[in-house]
Amino acid sequence: MTELTHPLATVPRGELLSRAEADPLRPRFHFVSPAGWLNDPNGVSQWNGTYHLFYQYNPEGAFHHRIKWGHATSTDLVTWTDQPVALEPSDGPDADGCWSGVLVNDAGTPTLVYSGRLDGRELPCVAVGSPDLSSWTKDPGNPVIAAPPLGVEITAYRDHCVWREGSKWRQLVGSGIRHRGGTAFLYESSDLRSWDYIGPLLIGDASQGDPSDTDWTGTMWECVDLFRAGAGSLGSAPAEDSPDVLVFSAWDDGETRHPLYWTGRYAGDTFEPEALHSLDYGGRFFYAPQSFEDESGRRVMFGWMQEGRSDAAMVEAGWSGVMSLPRLTTLANDGTLEFAPVPEIDKLRRNHVSVPAQALESVGQTVNTGVSGNQLDLELEVHLAAGSEVRLGVLASTDGAEETAIVLSRAADGTPTGTLRLDRTRSSLNPGVDVEDKSGPVPMPDGRVRLRVLVDRSAVEIFANGKPLTARLYPTLGGERVTLGATAGSVRLLSFDAWTMAGVLEESRSLLPKRK
Ligand code: FRU
Repeated sequence: MTELTHPLATVPRGELLSRAEADPLRPRFHFVSPAGWLNDPNGVSQWNGTYHLFYQYNPEGAFHHRIKWGHATSTDLVTWTDQPVALEPSDGPDADGCWSGVLVNDAGTPTLVYSGRLDGRELPCVAVGSPDLSSWTKDPGNPVIAAPPLGVEITAYRDHCVWREGSKWRQLVGSGIRHRGGTAFLYESSDLRSWDYIGPLLIGDASQGDPSDTDWTGTMWECVDLFRAGAGSLGSAPAEDSPDVLVFSAWDDGETRHPLYWTGRYAGDTFEPEALHSLDYGGRFFYAPQSFEDESGRRVMFGWMQEGRSDAAMVEAGWSGVMSLPRLTTLANDGTLEFAPVPEIDKLRRNHVSVPAQALESVGQTVNTGVSGNQLDLELEVHLAAGSEVRLGVLASTDGAEETAIVLSRAADGTPTGTLRLDRTRSSLNPGVDVEDKSGPVPMPDGRVRLRVLVDRSAVEIFANGKPLTARLYPTLGGERVTLGATAGSVRLLSFDAWTMAGVLEESRSLLPKRK
C-alpha cells in the first residue's frame, strides 16, 4: 500500500534524526524516540529479566499520524536499546493506526492487546510475539471484539487493561457514555480472542465539578489501568489497608486533560470508588500512564510527557514527546499513592555537590547553591515553619531573565497539608510556549518536605513528599544556575545534594531500528 505524504511531513525524512539530535531542548537521560513523534507508553513489562518499553510512534515526523508501536529494551530501566518497530498499520482493522495497549503473558506466549484504528474508530486487536518479543504476528481474527457494547451511546472506545483472574482473562476498555461520563467496560475471556461483555466497571459523572478543574473526570477515560496498591493481586482477598486503584486519563472531545485515579475496592464485576485523586499535578504533562509489576514485585509506572510548544515548533524540531522516568508506585500511609523514580536512576549521578544545612531566614535573598547544569538530580530536605515559603530556581540564566521556580509553601495556620507549585511564568522568553502554573497539595504534617527534582533540559519531574509534578520547560538562554531562597517565614535547609546526570541514549539511532 503506498501512503500519501502527510501535509505535516515537511521535514525531509533524512533530516529528522539530525534535527532532533541538534535540539538543545532534547532530554538526555529520559527515553525519547529516535526522532519523530512519541506518545503513550505501551506494553510496559519485564520478560525473562529484560524490561520492555513500547510506545506510540510516528517516525514520519513530529506529528500524530498512522501510529506504530516503537520498542526499546533495557536490563536496568535506565539505559535503553532501540528494537525494531513492533506493530505497524496494515490492511485490516488497524490500517489507520496501532493505538495503545498492553502486553500479557499467555502461558508463555507474549501477547499484545491493542486498539486497531480504522475509519475514525478503534477496536480491540491481538498480536503474538516471537520468544524475544522482537517480531509480532497479528491475529487473523482481529478485531477480537467486533463493536462497542450495543445500545450504549459512547464518546470513544479504546485502550486496554488485561489481567489474569483465576482461570479467566479479564479486560477493561476505556470509554465514555454520552451525557453521563467516562467509563471502563469490563469483559471476560478464556483465550484472549473471544470476549464476553460483562458491563461498565464504574461510570464517572461528567456533570460533577467544573470542567476546568484539574480533577474533572472528563467525558471519556483513556488508558485505564487497574491494580492493587501495596500487597496482593487483583481479585484476591485484600491485604489489610491495600486499596485497589483505577487509573485513567480524563479526556474530553479530543482534549487530553489529566491523569486521575480512584482508590476503592474492585470486587466481582464492579469497582466501588472511595476517593478520587490527582495522579500528577502536571496534568497533561504526565498523561496516559501505564504500569506493570516487575519480577521483583515492584509496581513501575511510565507516563507520556507531552510538549508545551506549538505543533509547528514540534514539526520543525523533528521530534516530540518524552517518556517519564520509570516511577516506583507505592502506597502512602494515608491510603493514597506515592511515587519516586526507580532507584536504578541513581547510577547516572556524577559530580556530587552538597550545599551546607542552614537557616534561610532572610526573605528575598537567594543562596548561591554553587550547583549548575541542565541535566540534574537535586535532592533536598527542608523544614517550613507555619506561614513559610521556599523557592528553588532551576535553569536560571545569569542575567536572571529566565528562571523556573519550584515553590513549596505551608499555610500560616500550620495545617498538615502544604502546596507544591511550579512557577513557569519566567521559564522562557519564547511567547509561544505553555507557561501555565501547576500546583497541588503536599502532606507536610511536621513541616518537613523531601524534595526531589530531576531536570533534563526541557523535561522536569518533581516529587515533594512523594507527590509528583511533571512538566516541560523551554528556556531560550541556556541558563543553568540553581538558586534557593525563602520567600516567606522561616525555612531551614536540612540537606541539599546535587548531581549532574549522565546521558543514556544510544550514539547513532535509526528511525526504523534493526534487531539487536
Ligand atoms: C492517549 C491516546 C490513547 C490512544 C493513543 C493514540 O494519549 O489518545 O487513547 O490509544 O493515545 O495514539
